[in-house]
Amino acid sequence: MEVGEPIPTSWEIAPGADALTLEDPLARKKPLSEWTEDSLVLGIETSCDETSAAVVKGGREILSNVIVSQGELHGEYGGIVPEIAARQHVEALTPVIREALFRADVTFWDLDGVAATLGPGLIGSLLVGVAEGKSIAAVLDIPFVGVNHLEGHVYSNLLAHKDAEFPAVCLIISGGHTLLVHALGHGDYEVLGSTIDDAAGEAFDKVARFLGLDYPGGPEIDRLSLLGDGNAIRFPRAMVDEPGFDVSYSGLKTAVINYVRNAQSRGEQVSVEDVAASFQQAVVDIQVTKTMAAALHAGVDRVFLCGGVAANSGLRQGLAEACESRMLKLFVPPMELCTDNAAMIAACGTAMFKRGLRHDLDASPDPNLSLA
Ligand code: KG4
Ligand code: ZN
Repeated sequence: MEVGEPIPTSWEIAPGADALTLEDPLARKKPLSEWTEDSLVLGIETSCDETSAAVVKGGREILSNVIVSQGELHGEYGGIVPEIAARQHVEALTPVIREALFRADVTFWDLDGVAATLGPGLIGSLLVGVAEGKSIAAVLDIPFVGVNHLEGHVYSNLLAHKDAEFPAVCLIISGGHTLLVHALGHGDYEVLGSTIDDAAGEAFDKVARFLGLDYPGGPEIDRLSLLGDGNAIRFPRAMVDEPGFDVSYSGLKTAVINYVRNAQSRGEQVSVEDVAASFQQAVVDIQVTKTMAAALHAGVDRVFLCGGVAANSGLRQGLAEACESRMLKLFVPPMELCTDNAAMIAACGTAMFKRGLRHDLDASPDPNLSLA
């Protein structure tokens, strides 16, 4: 594929696939002794099923953010197949990085640092991004830093909104994680609560699969919800009245499955739209209640919504209304920064570089890396 060509959504190996070509090493730029508003960081994200590379300036300005999604490839299996994901990252990453540099109108030699997702995520997928990130940093003689994927999601709001800053309560809600975090400052996080079983996005995907919808199911349920009645079926809201900030989604998923099976066994017509809308409403009620309680507990006046499920229209609206009535300022990233992307990794990496952090070249990915 030629640099500048549109990137296909499901990747195919082109004959003679791009190699990482390095130009005149004598022309390389020395690392900056200080990080400035002009510092350029290459971000790499390969933790799950998106291959992404981005160039971010000064930690807050996106010059490019190239994302190749493997969604279609995994669709036929109804979920992500780790081995396929890792292979696709190997094939896609180098051309995606070249494309990110091209779109940013910079070369390797303009970069001041490289940041790649270190974890949490699928180990085979993480290894691809970390190995390539470290190699680029080593050849260019610039620093490398490994970024926590969940912390990266928080930075999607700092990228999108100039007035977004810490402290804030962050709802990080995705296919792999559901966490409420008190972010006191850069790199200073207190996890207030998390899911005790399924992540919210996982529940969306599993319910969608049961309903016969395409993978990933979150956007499908969101779309159908707009056509249904969220109050049609009263699904359980587990743990919502309990103290603390943990949530649980496995009972809700089972309740949806039982409801549909029971109705069908009685020969009743089931409205998929109503089931989708009522399930989504339960998730929204749970997360809005817990997020408002967390903001009150932490004593902050800012709420950051981030992660793939932050794209959900019901959640965005529910949190917006709840925050407005409590005089809290809600920050929500645009859709392209909700799901996995390398711009958020570059932004988080820049903040780490600014604090003097970096990783040695023997840093290895950690599939269970925790936030705090
Ligand atoms: O952050 P992300 O791209 O990957 C992980 O780190 O997990 O999140 C992907 C998840 C999937 O479960 C997907 O179904 C969900 O985000 N998702 C949504 C919506 N868009 C994506 N869930 C509900 N409503 C949406 N509109
Ligand atoms: Zn994610």
